[in-house]
Amino acid sequence: MITDIPFVPDTGFQPEVTPFFDAHSHTFSYVVQDPGSTRCAVFDCVLDIDYAAGRLGYAGADAIIRQIEREKLTVDWLVETHVHADHLSAAPYLRDRVGGMLGIGAKILVVQDYFGKVFNEGTDFQRDGSQFDRLFVDGDRYEIGGMTARVLETPGHTPACTSHVVGDSVFVGDTLFMPDAGTARADFPGGDARTLYRSIRRLLTLPEEMRIFVCHDYGPNGREVTHQTTVGAELRDNIHVGTASSEDEFVAWRNQRDSTLPMPQLIIPSLQVNIKGGNLPEPQGNGRRFFTVPIDGL
Ligand SMILES: [Fe+2]
Repeated sequence: MITDIPFVPDTGFQPEVTPFFDAHSHTFSYVVQDPGSTRCAVFDCVLDIDYAAGRLGYAGADAIIRQIEREKLTVDWLVETHVHADHLSAAPYLRDRVGGMLGIGAKILVVQDYFGKVFNEGTDFQRDGSQFDRLFVDGDRYEIGGMTARVLETPGHTPACTSHVVGDSVFVGDTLFMPDAGTARADFPGGDARTLYRSIRRLLTLPEEMRIFVCHDYGPNGREVTHQTTVGAELRDNIHVGTASSEDEFVAWRNQRDSTLPMPQLIIPSLQVNIKGGNLPEPQGNGRRFFTVPIDGL
């Protein structure tokens, strides 16, 4: 349950944040390091896929692993801000190589239930979040070395979206984009534009100087892709939810806009892997793994 208790973050420390950009899905992953130790968390790591060929790739995940090994970091957490519909999670690949506990929002159960049916998953697929090490609820805290991270449930883009406050930084997943890019769609199953607006408003009550790290950027109007802004900049300049936009205006605009958007190119393989914590489908009789494409299922 989301509380209305005012939350005053401890902005007195600054995690070291290293972004990694996946140009195919326009995703930013982050290595978030405790400056006082060699402990870190990895947010939203990406597994490459050439879907047309059914071929996986590991270059993006390996770049993160190289950074972890070069800096001799210990991975405390692998965090998914939500069940991504546009890329496969590389969390199991990273966990096998550099460790870390895998965490996601507890509302993953809602997503598992819905898409378990879409993909006709059998009883082997537990819809209880047990594929993850930790299911975060609002207000949860967890440690990254000497840093305490705090979880905020920020649903709307999907039901299981969470944002993570670490010192002067907040990792918002797809709850917010850069100010000139606005917001993410809210039309996936369980998504809701009004809920998204309220989640964003809640994030924007954080101190204005706090750094915001977004999960996606598409470089609108020809600018370079970028990943970092501030609460104050979003309040002033976000084209969808800046101070000028009312809730009702946002909801009407978001719903209209979403009705025109095509499905993400990788939604089919992404969801069936990501609802299982990034684990690939079990091999079939010939030892090969297969994605399932539900006809008219989405
Ligand atoms: Fe997303």
